[in-house]
Amino acid sequence: MYTCGIDIGSVSTEALILDIDENKNYKILSYIVNKTGSNSKTAALESFNNALAGAKINKDEIDSIVATGYGRVNVEFANKNITEITCHASGVTLIFPDTATIIDIGGQDSKIIKIDKITKKPIDFLMNDKCAAGTGKFLEVMAKTLEINLENFGEIFLNTKDKVDITSTCTVFAESEIVSLIGQGIPKERIIKGLIYSIADRIISMVSRIGLEKPVCLTGGVAKNSGISNAIEEKLAVKLCIPFEPQITGALGAAYLASKI
Ligand SMILES: Nc1ncnc2c1ncn2[C@@H]1O[C@H](COP(=O)(O)OP(=O)(O)OP(=O)(O)O)[C@@H](O)[C@H]1O
Ligand SMILES: [Mg+2]
Repeated sequence: MYTCGIDIGSVSTEALILDIDENKNYKILSYIVNKTGSNSKTAALESFNNALAGAKINKDEIDSIVATGYGRVNVEFANKNITEITCHASGVTLIFPDTATIIDIGGQDSKIIKIDKITKKPIDFLMNDKCAAGTGKFLEVMAKTLEINLENFGEIFLNTKDKVDITSTCTVFAESEIVSLIGQGIPKERIIKGLIYSIADRIISMVSRIGLEKPVCLTGGVAKNSGISNAIEEKLAVKLCIPFEPQITGALGAAYLASKI
């Protein structure tokens, strides 16, 4: 059967199409990562159509669709909505079956999910969705203020020795702090290193609240920022598992769960 998973996040929308047989063996036929923009209904439909085109099948051939992510209720053509926690757990354990802890850092929230190694289902989670601090949006705002591409943060982190401590965790205050540091002539690279460590510290304090259990998988768009993954690895002293495309795990889990409804 063919199934589709659609993950409507605050920043990005992913659609993924699976070919699943009766033994639950699966093959990813296509996936797409688009910007959500201001209309999640449009983003969902466009992403679905892009994924269909990528898989070279038409919509009538799709047996079942599951929507997830904060905008999941807006996917009117989905057969079911399932929470992000459940879909991420499902998607990640398809890629890394032994995962015990998932760290997902998205655009507007960060979540730590504890997985039962036998059932592969979530047994506990912690979510920061109250403010942008420690999320991808925080990094986007800072990259804009510093006039440096977010894509370059990873390389800057590796090539910069000293950091400047960023004391504000609030996005608005941190932005003013950065403007002031730039004004003092502090090199931007050192500010970026400090910012990365401040995000890593927030994530690590969430992990320690829920309890660190290995193996740990890092997902979400921020997993593409190697500065953040390196800082988390250094502070947690663990090697993180990062999927080949860290933004699609929610959609992959949704598509897989769609085969069971
Ligand atoms: N190539 C990249 N390099 C560095 N960072 C990136 C890259 N692509 C995306 N990001 C980061 O990923 C973030 C978006 O992550 P993601 O797509 O997982 O969010 P989302 O699922 O839409 O949000 P949420 O789950 O919080 O609703 C961006 O804010 C940005 O910080
Ligand atoms: Mg997300």
